[in-house]
Amino acid sequence: MDSGKKYILVTGGAGYIGSHTVVALIEKGFTPIIVDDFRNSNRDVIPRLEKITNEEIIYFDAACQNLERLRGIFSQFEVYGIIHFAADKAVGESMENPLKYFDNNFGSLTSMLEVAKEFKVGRFVFSSSCTVYGEPEVIPVNEQSPVSYSSPYGFTKKVCEEMIQQFVQSCPEVKSTLLRYFNPVGAHESGIIGEEPDGKPNNLLPFITQTAAGVRKELTVFGDDYDTPDGTCIRDYIHVVDLAEAHVAALEKTDEANINPMIYNVGTGKGSSVLEMIKTFEKVTGIDLPYKIGPRRDGDIKEIFANTDKVNSELNWESQKTIEDAISTAWAFEKYIREKRKSE
Ligand code: NAD
Ligand code: WQD
Repeated sequence: MDSGKKYILVTGGAGYIGSHTVVALIEKGFTPIIVDDFRNSNRDVIPRLEKITNEEIIYFDAACQNLERLRGIFSQFEVYGIIHFAADKAVGESMENPLKYFDNNFGSLTSMLEVAKEFKVGRFVFSSSCTVYGEPEVIPVNEQSPVSYSSPYGFTKKVCEEMIQQFVQSCPEVKSTLLRYFNPVGAHESGIIGEEPDGKPNNLLPFITQTAAGVRKELTVFGDDYDTPDGTCIRDYIHVVDLAEAHVAALEKTDEANINPMIYNVGTGKGSSVLEMIKTFEKVTGIDLPYKIGPRRDGDIKEIFANTDKVNSELNWESQKTIEDAISTAWAFEKYIREKRKSE
């Protein structure tokens, strides 16, 4: 058994938010251990993380459901905390194939809780989502706002939160924090890790950057007839590097949780519309973005942004970076990926 290091097991650590959190953990003196089977990420993220951090990255190519592999890892390292990112996350796909989402999102959580219990890992941080607020009646939403769901994906997040709640009550030596992320955007300032969707992006900013790069012909704005100042939907876009840092803050605070998990909104507290995102992209990059107004997208909510009072005061965390920072780094990452794919 190794000692002297604070090992944090990061499931999904090769993915978009996980990879940025690995960097943030190393910056704060933790030693991350990635468990990822690369079902939605690129193996090449590992050497890129090594380049950014100048550290050898410990990783295991394994599914979270593989309890035997997990037991081997937990026997080898004294794990200080778990951050559980690994999940499937595409809302549209979850409507077509809900079983895939039940299988992976519930299955991976169940086995991570199992090993947390077996190996007495005291801190368990879970990736939840603002999707649990559904279409909110009162904005901004705080952690007491009513919880609902409008897709099988959203259902898995709501149920996973409840699973953790029931589990920690049965196993008080494991304490947990649930982070409800708003809309993560942007990339690391190195420009070599970021959001790298496979195929056509579901999310707005990767669609914008792919359109600007010429991979997509034009962006469709999903509706401009909402009851908002410019008619387009409003979201709380949070820079992924800020979001990553919230995980480090949450890890230490998790010690203070009682038999209920602590829950925090992680957003900026400010809403931006789709048209504002497009205009800011054009201003930051100097590129005219081809776009058209299309019909509303099924299931979209009009407006949501976070009340961040709780996370600001209790985790002493506040978003620092701007939408402009997020857009310029996302664009730098898009250009990096295009060059890289050309040379492969
Ligand atoms: P991502 O797909 O980029 O990263 C997830 C990683 O987990 C991938 O590397 C994938 O290969 C891995 N993975 C998935 N299932 C696995 C399994 N069973 N075993 C091992 N590895 C597995 O997604 P992301 O955007 O980084 O999201 C991370 C978490 O945050 C997810 O739980 C997601 O639901 C949640 N979340 C994401 C957003 C968002 O907009 N990106 C918003 C709110 C919440
Ligand atoms: C943002 C805005 C679209 C693409 C999703 C999940 C949510 C959470 C965050 C995980 C919306 C508009 C988009 C495009 C557009 N993820 N848009 N044209 O829908 O807020 O949330 O990611 O937990 O659960 O649902 O994010 O990036 O898809 O859309 O006009 O081509 O951009 O209508 O208003 P969303 P998004």
